[in-house]
Amino acid sequence: MTARVTVAELLAMKRRGGRIVMLTAYDYPTARLIDQAGIPVILVGDSLGNTVLGYETTIPVTLADMLHHTKAVTRAARRALVVADMPFLTYQVTPDEALRNAGRLVQEGGAHAVKVEGGGPIVETVARLVRAGIPVMGHLGLTPQSVHALGGFRLQARTASAVEQLFADALALEEAGAFAIVLELVPAPVARAVSELLRIPTIGIGAGAGCDGQVQVLTDLLGLTPGPLPRHARAYADLASIVSDAVRRFAEDVRDGAFPSEAESFGLPRDLDVETVEAIARAYRARRGGSGDVPRSDGD
Ligand code: KIV
Repeated sequence: MTARVTVAELLAMKRRGGRIVMLTAYDYPTARLIDQAGIPVILVGDSLGNTVLGYETTIPVTLADMLHHTKAVTRAARRALVVADMPFLTYQVTPDEALRNAGRLVQEGGAHAVKVEGGGPIVETVARLVRAGIPVMGHLGLTPQSVHALGGFRLQARTASAVEQLFADALALEEAGAFAIVLELVPAPVARAVSELLRIPTIGIGAGAGCDGQVQVLTDLLGLTPGPLPRHARAYADLASIVSDAVRRFAEDVRDGAFPSEAESFGLPRDLDVETVEAIARAYRARRGGSGDVPRSDGD
């Protein structure tokens, strides 16, 4: 059995200058493929709100949604460290409530760590979860759960005071015991400087190549995102075309009678013969009214 990736290994990777790869997953089959590809960290992102559940933002995502999808991912991941996002309002109210909710993601969901968004106001909560033995990943820059306060999905840390705040928040999260921090939509030079300052790894998305790792949303990577991709994403496949083509060809085959073939069907088992089946069918047809003979399509 392969050993599970640990938080300590991610810290060691940063010290060695290795780049950390993280991908989101929301279900069993894709989590299995990602794990088998050797990706060390899987994030069950609350981006599942946009990518899988059809919401416009991550705000409607509930703890029940996260538990449901985290369970599917952790059933599949044999080696990867699985980080589950804590959804909106499950950790901002009180540290006690946050601990209970994070505990459920770990205990019921099987997650190995949780991720929370924001700096200052949640630092105490991060320390509380870490003291309870739950590894915590932070998330700064564009924090999608605050999209309405931030005025949209746009680049953050655009002024000197915002950059100063980002540094302060990153350090505070590190001091509270976070083991890594996602930096989302931050100018590359700023993200690089934050990464150089911190002892814990930064994992960037739209934050340039100077981060210690990179995360992408799986549906962007696979070409399953409807509409234009965000500037920071790169599609490595066009699964949307592959899926549409497969679905169309299946429908054609069904309509043409080409699916299923004999190879895809089952004949009668040895102890059942055609005459027996026909006799049963005749009896039932008679019960519904009529002779029991199959009506012919020409009306005879
Ligand atoms: O929910 C998510 O997928 C995320 C990533 C964008 C980092 O938080």
